[in-house]
Amino acid sequence: MQIIRRPRILRQSPAIRAMVSETILSPNDFIVPLFINEGKNYKEEISSMPGYYRMSLDNIEKEVKELWRMGLKCVLLFIKCDDKLKDNKGTEALNPDGLMQRSIKAIKNVCPEMCVMTDVALDPFSIYGHDGIVENNEIVNDPTVEVLAQMSVSHAAAGADFVAPSDMMDGRILAIREALEENNFTKTGIMAYSAKYASCFYGPFRDALDSAPGFGDKKSYQMNPANRIEAVKEVMMDIDEGADIVMVKPALSYLDIIREVKNISDVPVSAYHVSGEYSMIKAAAARGWLNEDQTILETTLSIKRAGADLIASYFAKDVVRLLG
Ligand code: PBG
Repeated sequence: MQIIRRPRILRQSPAIRAMVSETILSPNDFIVPLFINEGKNYKEEISSMPGYYRMSLDNIEKEVKELWRMGLKCVLLFIKCDDKLKDNKGTEALNPDGLMQRSIKAIKNVCPEMCVMTDVALDPFSIYGHDGIVENNEIVNDPTVEVLAQMSVSHAAAGADFVAPSDMMDGRILAIREALEENNFTKTGIMAYSAKYASCFYGPFRDALDSAPGFGDKKSYQMNPANRIEAVKEVMMDIDEGADIVMVKPALSYLDIIREVKNISDVPVSAYHVSGEYSMIKAAAARGWLNEDQTILETTLSIKRAGADLIASYFAKDVVRLLG
């Protein structure tokens, strides 16, 4: 038998496999989502996200220092807003002494080099749990965009390195960029959730922040999972409007979209490995159906191989630990 091409030659030992590995994970790839609560010495496991916690700021400060020591360089902040402070317009989101603004300052204070990104959307602040202002049972675009722009300026003023609008309103990237320019925040970046799908995989996150929509669903602003070309349109628009990084979300059911976006984008592409994707793996591992560590590494690697330059992931610490 004469075989000319023997691909197994490149798979025969760990050394050779490492030499020819096309995709390599590093701590630099990750964005670590943090859930922040009011209070002191508070740390509570999110029931639908075993192993992931909501924390008060004192514990967040410790966590951020640990992340930095591990080589993780970027955090993405989500805050849990007190029910009493919620309204239709997300007024609390603009409070210069609000939990988000205090969190940005506290993190920058204990770890100035950490890249701090902030969630920009109304849902944690909304009595309706929607990402925008509600009028006559509709989520109204343009008035919401005005609030999002003010919110972004407020985060920039508190010291955020990037604002990350996750709302999917039309025109918000341009409005945010213009507002940042007008207020002289010329070094604040925008990571746009450009292709964010109306996904069932956000369920556990909404538990974490108590932010499930009070009526209806998010399909009039988040994308239809059936669509691919629309993702390209959204990404191209956001880049034109001034996005520094574009995002695809969720990640695992949308690996084709990540690749599509990577092929047309001239800015870095991020992917959000979302809460439901985390919980699925945790649940299967808890039953002994999947090996947790191997599943974490394989899924994360797949997201990077698909084209993600950055990965927002609840597994970031696990991956760094597993990389040794
Ligand atoms: C809301 C927001 C959501 C997530 C990030 N920002 C939920 C939603 O759109 O309903 C989901 C993240 C996750 O599931 O891990 N603006």
